[in-house]
Amino acid sequence: MAEDFSNRDGLIWMDGEIIPWRDAKVHVLTHGLHYASSVFEGERAYDGNIFLCHEHSERFIRSADLIDMRMPYSAKELDEAKYEILKANDLTNAYIRPVAWRGSEQLGISAQDTKTHVAIACWDWPSYFGEEAREKGISIQTSKWRAPMPNTATTNSKAAGLYATHTMSKHAAEANGYTDALMLDYRGNVAELTGANLFMVKDRKIITPDPDCFLNGLTRQTVIKLAEEHGIPLTVETVTPEELTQADEVFCTGTAAEVTAIGKIDDTSFTVGPVTRQLRDAYESLVREPAKEQLNPQPIISRNSSHFFDIT
Ligand SMILES: Cc1ncc(COP(=O)(O)O)c(C=O)c1O
Repeated sequence: MAEDFSNRDGLIWMDGEIIPWRDAKVHVLTHGLHYASSVFEGERAYDGNIFLCHEHSERFIRSADLIDMRMPYSAKELDEAKYEILKANDLTNAYIRPVAWRGSEQLGISAQDTKTHVAIACWDWPSYFGEEAREKGISIQTSKWRAPMPNTATTNSKAAGLYATHTMSKHAAEANGYTDALMLDYRGNVAELTGANLFMVKDRKIITPDPDCFLNGLTRQTVIKLAEEHGIPLTVETVTPEELTQADEVFCTGTAAEVTAIGKIDDTSFTVGPVTRQLRDAYESLVREPAKEQLNPQPIISRNSSHFFDIT
Protein backbone atom coordinates (compact mmCIF):
# COMPACT_ATOMS: atom_id res chain seq x y z
CA MET A 1 0.00 0.00 0.00
CA ALA A 2 1.45 3.39 -1.02
CA GLU A 3 2.05 5.97 1.66
CA ASP A 4 -1.04 8.11 2.30
CA PHE A 5 -0.43 11.63 1.02
CA SER A 6 -2.21 13.11 4.05
CA ASN A 7 0.20 11.43 6.44
CA ARG A 8 3.67 12.73 5.66
CA ASP A 9 6.22 14.86 7.40
CA GLY A 10 6.83 18.31 6.00
CA LEU A 11 5.13 21.65 5.51
CA ILE A 12 2.42 22.93 3.16
CA TRP A 13 1.69 26.51 2.11
CA MET A 14 -2.03 27.11 2.62
CA ASP A 15 -3.88 30.40 2.19
CA GLY A 16 -0.74 32.41 2.80
CA GLU A 17 0.62 30.46 5.77
CA ILE A 18 3.07 27.63 6.14
CA ILE A 19 1.51 24.89 8.22
CA PRO A 20 2.39 21.27 9.20
CA TRP A 21 1.65 18.80 6.38
CA ARG A 22 -0.94 16.83 8.38
CA ASP A 23 -2.92 19.99 9.27
CA ALA A 24 -3.59 21.01 5.65
CA LYS A 25 -7.26 19.90 5.63
CA VAL A 26 -10.59 20.93 4.10
CA HIS A 27 -14.18 20.29 5.26
CA VAL A 28 -16.39 17.64 3.57
CA LEU A 29 -18.82 20.37 2.50
CA THR A 30 -16.19 22.08 0.39
CA HIS A 31 -17.58 23.27 -2.94
CA GLY A 32 -14.51 22.03 -4.82
CA LEU A 33 -15.14 18.50 -3.62
CA HIS A 34 -18.79 18.41 -4.74
CA TYR A 35 -18.72 20.39 -7.97
CA ALA A 36 -15.10 20.03 -9.18
CA SER A 37 -14.52 23.74 -8.70
CA SER A 38 -10.81 23.18 -8.41
CA VAL A 39 -7.73 23.74 -10.56
CA PHE A 40 -4.16 22.62 -10.06
CA GLU A 41 -0.63 22.78 -11.41
CA GLY A 42 2.23 20.31 -11.66
CA GLU A 43 5.74 21.74 -11.63
CA ARG A 44 9.27 20.56 -11.07
CA ALA A 45 12.24 22.16 -9.36
CA TYR A 46 15.71 21.22 -10.57
CA ASP A 47 18.68 22.13 -8.38
CA GLY A 48 16.56 24.73 -6.58
CA ASN A 49 15.14 26.34 -9.74
CA ILE A 50 11.47 25.85 -10.61
CA PHE A 51 11.36 25.28 -14.34
CA LEU A 52 9.04 27.81 -16.01
CA CYS A 53 7.83 28.87 -12.57
CA HIS A 54 6.11 32.04 -13.77
CA GLU A 55 4.46 30.37 -16.79
CA HIS A 56 3.00 27.73 -14.45
CA SER A 57 1.68 30.47 -12.14
CA GLU A 58 0.09 32.25 -15.09
CA ARG A 59 -1.50 29.02 -16.32
CA PHE A 60 -2.78 28.34 -12.79
CA ILE A 61 -4.53 31.72 -12.78
CA ARG A 62 -5.79 31.16 -16.33
CA SER A 63 -7.26 27.74 -15.37
CA ALA A 64 -9.09 29.39 -12.45
CA ASP A 65 -10.39 32.15 -14.75
CA LEU A 66 -11.68 29.54 -17.19
CA ILE A 67 -13.89 27.99 -14.49
CA ASP A 68 -14.99 31.46 -13.36
CA MET A 69 -12.99 31.30 -10.14
CA ARG A 70 -10.94 34.28 -9.00
CA MET A 71 -7.38 33.52 -7.96
CA PRO A 72 -6.61 35.65 -4.88
CA TYR A 73 -2.88 35.90 -5.68
CA SER A 74 -0.89 37.37 -8.53
CA ALA A 75 1.51 35.21 -10.55
CA LYS A 76 4.42 36.92 -8.81
CA GLU A 77 2.97 36.16 -5.37
CA LEU A 78 2.46 32.53 -6.40
CA ASP A 79 6.06 32.36 -7.66
CA GLU A 80 7.29 33.59 -4.28
CA ALA A 81 5.05 31.18 -2.37
CA LYS A 82 6.40 28.23 -4.37
CA TYR A 83 9.99 29.15 -3.59
CA GLU A 84 9.06 29.75 0.05
CA ILE A 85 7.55 26.30 0.54
CA LEU A 86 10.36 24.60 -1.37
CA LYS A 87 12.87 26.23 0.96
CA ALA A 88 10.79 25.51 4.08
CA ASN A 89 10.87 21.81 3.16
CA ASP A 90 14.58 21.97 2.39
CA LEU A 91 13.99 20.62 -1.13
CA THR A 92 15.93 21.49 -4.27
CA ASN A 93 14.78 18.71 -6.63
CA ALA A 94 11.06 18.28 -6.21
CA TYR A 95 7.60 18.06 -7.68
CA ILE A 96 5.39 21.05 -6.79
CA ARG A 97 1.61 20.85 -6.64
CA PRO A 98 -0.33 24.11 -6.34
CA VAL A 99 -4.10 23.61 -6.01
CA ALA A 100 -6.95 26.11 -5.76
CA TRP A 101 -10.54 25.34 -4.85
CA ARG A 102 -13.82 26.97 -3.89
CA GLY A 103 -14.40 26.63 -0.14
CA SER A 104 -17.38 25.69 2.04
CA GLU A 105 -18.73 29.26 2.35
CA GLN A 106 -21.60 28.26 0.02
CA LEU A 107 -22.74 24.85 -1.22
CA GLY A 108 -24.84 24.62 -4.37
CA ILE A 109 -24.42 25.09 -8.08
CA SER A 110 -24.11 28.81 -7.63
CA ALA A 111 -20.88 29.64 -5.88
CA GLN A 112 -20.87 33.43 -5.88
CA ASP A 113 -20.16 33.63 -2.14
CA THR A 114 -17.37 31.12 -1.99
CA LYS A 115 -13.75 32.07 -1.44
CA THR A 116 -10.91 30.65 -3.46
CA HIS A 117 -8.46 28.79 -1.27
CA VAL A 118 -4.96 27.94 -2.40
CA ALA A 119 -2.42 25.39 -1.20
CA ILE A 120 1.03 24.47 -2.42
CA ALA A 121 2.69 21.18 -1.53
CA CYS A 122 6.02 19.82 -2.72
CA TRP A 123 7.79 16.52 -2.40
CA ASP A 124 10.60 14.46 -3.77
CA TRP A 125 9.47 12.63 -6.94
CA PRO A 126 12.34 11.52 -9.16
CA SER A 127 10.64 9.88 -12.14
CA TYR A 128 6.98 9.72 -13.21
CA PHE A 129 7.08 6.48 -15.18
CA GLY A 130 10.05 4.84 -13.42
CA GLU A 131 13.62 4.37 -14.59
CA GLU A 132 12.90 1.31 -16.79
CA ALA A 133 10.81 3.51 -19.09
CA ARG A 134 13.98 5.35 -20.05
CA GLU A 135 15.45 2.41 -21.92
CA LYS A 136 12.36 0.54 -23.11
CA GLY A 137 9.72 3.25 -23.33
CA ILE A 138 6.29 3.05 -21.74
CA SER A 139 3.31 1.10 -23.05
CA ILE A 140 -0.02 2.81 -23.71
CA GLN A 141 -3.47 1.54 -24.57
CA THR A 142 -6.13 3.47 -26.47
CA SER A 143 -8.90 4.60 -24.17
CA LYS A 144 -12.60 4.46 -24.90
CA TRP A 145 -12.79 8.00 -23.46
CA ARG A 146 -12.09 10.94 -25.71
CA ALA A 147 -10.87 14.51 -25.37
CA PRO A 148 -14.09 16.55 -25.43
CA MET A 149 -15.18 19.22 -27.88
CA PRO A 150 -13.83 22.61 -26.79
CA ASN A 151 -17.36 23.97 -26.31
CA THR A 152 -18.23 21.19 -23.85
CA ALA A 153 -15.37 21.61 -21.38
CA THR A 154 -12.51 23.95 -20.45
CA THR A 155 -10.14 21.79 -22.44
CA ASN A 156 -6.99 23.95 -22.35
CA SER A 157 -6.89 24.11 -18.56
CA LYS A 158 -5.84 22.08 -15.58
CA ALA A 159 -9.36 22.03 -14.15
CA ALA A 160 -9.85 19.04 -11.84
CA GLY A 161 -13.18 18.11 -13.44
CA LEU A 162 -11.48 17.17 -16.70
CA TYR A 163 -9.46 14.45 -15.04
CA ALA A 164 -12.27 12.01 -14.16
CA THR A 165 -12.06 10.48 -17.64
CA HIS A 166 -8.26 10.50 -17.47
CA THR A 167 -8.28 8.50 -14.24
CA MET A 168 -10.79 6.00 -15.68
CA SER A 169 -8.67 5.69 -18.84
CA LYS A 170 -5.50 5.10 -16.86
CA HIS A 171 -7.21 2.50 -14.66
CA ALA A 172 -8.44 0.58 -17.72
CA ALA A 173 -4.95 0.64 -19.29
CA GLU A 174 -3.29 -0.48 -16.06
CA ALA A 175 -5.78 -3.31 -15.68
CA ASN A 176 -4.51 -4.64 -19.02
CA GLY A 177 -0.84 -4.29 -18.06
CA TYR A 178 -0.17 -0.96 -19.85
CA THR A 179 1.49 2.04 -18.22
CA ASP A 180 -0.87 4.72 -19.45
CA ALA A 181 -3.76 5.43 -21.81
CA LEU A 182 -3.83 7.12 -25.20
CA MET A 183 -6.76 9.50 -25.48
CA LEU A 184 -8.19 10.17 -28.91
CA ASP A 185 -10.08 13.41 -29.48
CA TYR A 186 -13.84 13.71 -30.11
CA ARG A 187 -13.16 13.33 -33.88
CA GLY A 188 -11.25 10.07 -33.36
CA ASN A 189 -7.78 11.53 -34.01
CA VAL A 190 -4.81 11.18 -31.67
CA ALA A 191 -4.91 13.66 -28.76
CA GLU A 192 -2.68 13.00 -25.73
CA LEU A 193 -1.94 10.72 -22.79
CA THR A 194 -3.69 11.12 -19.43
CA GLY A 195 -1.05 13.59 -18.19
CA ALA A 196 1.31 14.21 -21.10
CA ASN A 197 1.36 15.35 -24.73
CA LEU A 198 2.30 13.10 -27.63
CA PHE A 199 4.77 13.35 -30.52
CA MET A 200 5.54 10.93 -33.33
CA VAL A 201 8.62 10.79 -35.59
CA LYS A 202 8.44 9.62 -39.21
CA ASP A 203 11.46 9.81 -41.54
CA ARG A 204 13.22 12.12 -39.04
CA LYS A 205 10.32 14.58 -39.12
CA ILE A 206 8.37 15.22 -35.93
CA ILE A 207 4.58 15.47 -35.96
CA THR A 208 2.43 16.47 -33.00
CA PRO A 209 -1.34 17.04 -32.94
CA ASP A 210 -2.81 20.51 -32.65
CA PRO A 211 -3.95 20.97 -29.01
CA ASP A 212 -7.30 22.43 -30.01
CA CYS A 213 -9.22 20.29 -27.48
CA PHE A 214 -6.61 19.31 -24.88
CA LEU A 215 -3.85 20.90 -22.83
CA ASN A 216 -1.10 22.64 -24.77
CA GLY A 217 1.56 21.55 -22.26
CA LEU A 218 4.45 23.80 -21.33
CA THR A 219 6.81 20.88 -21.92
CA ARG A 220 5.25 20.36 -25.35
CA GLN A 221 5.92 24.00 -26.19
CA THR A 222 9.48 23.72 -24.83
CA VAL A 223 10.19 20.60 -26.89
CA ILE A 224 8.82 22.22 -30.06
CA LYS A 225 11.30 25.06 -29.49
CA LEU A 226 14.12 22.60 -28.79
CA ALA A 227 13.37 20.71 -32.02
CA GLU A 228 13.61 24.01 -33.89
CA GLU A 229 16.93 24.83 -32.19
CA HIS A 230 18.27 21.39 -33.13
CA GLY A 231 17.14 21.75 -36.73
CA ILE A 232 14.70 18.86 -36.58
CA PRO A 233 11.67 19.54 -38.82
CA LEU A 234 8.38 19.57 -36.92
CA THR A 235 4.80 20.07 -37.98
CA VAL A 236 1.62 20.43 -35.98
CA GLU A 237 -1.02 18.43 -37.79
CA THR A 238 -3.72 15.82 -37.42
CA VAL A 239 -2.47 12.36 -36.50
CA THR A 240 -4.81 9.45 -37.06
CA PRO A 241 -4.48 6.26 -34.98
CA GLU A 242 -3.42 4.43 -38.20
CA GLU A 243 -0.67 6.98 -38.92
CA LEU A 244 0.60 6.56 -35.39
CA THR A 245 1.16 2.83 -35.92
CA GLN A 246 3.45 3.71 -38.89
CA ALA A 247 5.73 5.96 -36.77
CA ASP A 248 9.46 5.32 -36.42
CA GLU A 249 9.44 6.72 -32.88
CA VAL A 250 6.79 7.93 -30.46
CA PHE A 251 7.37 9.91 -27.28
CA CYS A 252 5.45 11.95 -24.76
CA THR A 253 6.17 15.16 -22.86
CA GLY A 254 5.02 16.63 -19.58
CA THR A 255 6.32 18.29 -16.45
CA ALA A 256 6.04 15.02 -14.55
CA ALA A 257 6.81 12.73 -17.51
CA GLU A 258 9.56 15.01 -18.91
CA VAL A 259 10.48 13.48 -22.32
CA THR A 260 9.64 9.77 -22.22
CA ALA A 261 9.77 7.28 -25.08
CA ILE A 262 6.72 5.20 -25.90
CA GLY A 263 7.65 1.57 -26.56
CA LYS A 264 4.23 0.12 -27.27
CA ILE A 265 0.80 1.35 -28.37
CA ASP A 266 -1.89 -1.31 -28.12
CA ASP A 267 -0.30 -4.21 -30.13
CA THR A 268 2.33 -2.17 -31.99
CA SER A 269 5.90 -1.94 -30.64
CA PHE A 270 8.38 0.92 -31.16
CA THR A 271 12.06 1.27 -30.37
CA VAL A 272 13.53 4.21 -28.47
CA GLY A 273 15.01 6.15 -31.39
CA PRO A 274 17.63 8.86 -31.97
CA VAL A 275 15.23 11.83 -32.16
CA THR A 276 13.63 10.92 -28.84
CA ARG A 277 17.04 10.51 -27.21
CA GLN A 278 18.31 13.80 -28.63
CA LEU A 279 15.31 15.80 -27.40
CA ARG A 280 15.26 14.00 -24.06
CA ASP A 281 18.92 14.93 -23.49
CA ALA A 282 18.33 18.50 -24.63
CA TYR A 283 15.35 18.85 -22.29
CA GLU A 284 17.26 17.34 -19.36
CA SER A 285 20.09 19.80 -19.77
CA LEU A 286 17.78 22.80 -20.36
CA VAL A 287 15.85 22.27 -17.11
CA ARG A 288 19.12 22.19 -15.17
CA GLU A 289 20.57 25.37 -16.64
CA PRO A 290 21.27 27.65 -13.70
CA ALA A 291 18.57 30.27 -13.14
CA LYS A 292 19.72 33.81 -13.59
CA GLU A 293 17.93 35.07 -10.47
CA GLN A 294 16.65 32.62 -7.91
CA LEU A 295 13.98 34.77 -6.28
CA ASN A 296 12.54 36.26 -9.39
CA PRO A 297 13.50 33.53 -11.81
CA GLN A 298 13.62 34.29 -15.47
CA PRO A 299 12.26 31.60 -17.74
CA ILE A 300 15.33 29.60 -18.65
CA ILE A 301 14.35 28.98 -22.22
CA SER A 302 16.55 31.40 -24.07
CA ARG A 303 14.12 33.91 -25.51
CA ASN A 304 11.36 36.06 -24.04
CA SER A 305 9.10 33.18 -23.23
CA SER A 306 5.94 35.11 -22.39
CA HIS A 307 5.74 35.79 -26.12
CA PHE A 308 6.42 32.18 -26.87
CA PHE A 309 4.38 30.18 -24.37
CA ASP A 310 0.67 29.83 -24.93
CA ILE A 311 -0.86 30.44 -21.54
CA THR A 312 -3.83 32.46 -22.73
C1 LIG B 1 -3.83 16.18 -19.49
C2 LIG B 1 -2.45 16.71 -19.56
N1 LIG B 1 -1.88 16.87 -20.78
C3 LIG B 1 -0.62 17.34 -20.92
C4 LIG B 1 0.14 17.66 -19.81
C5 LIG B 1 1.52 18.20 -20.00
O1 LIG B 1 1.54 19.55 -19.60
P1 LIG B 1 2.87 20.24 -19.07
O2 LIG B 1 3.93 19.93 -20.07
O3 LIG B 1 2.53 21.67 -18.99
O4 LIG B 1 3.16 19.62 -17.75
C6 LIG B 1 -0.41 17.50 -18.53
C7 LIG B 1 0.36 17.84 -17.33
O5 LIG B 1 0.25 18.95 -16.82
C8 LIG B 1 -1.73 17.02 -18.40
O6 LIG B 1 -2.30 16.85 -17.19
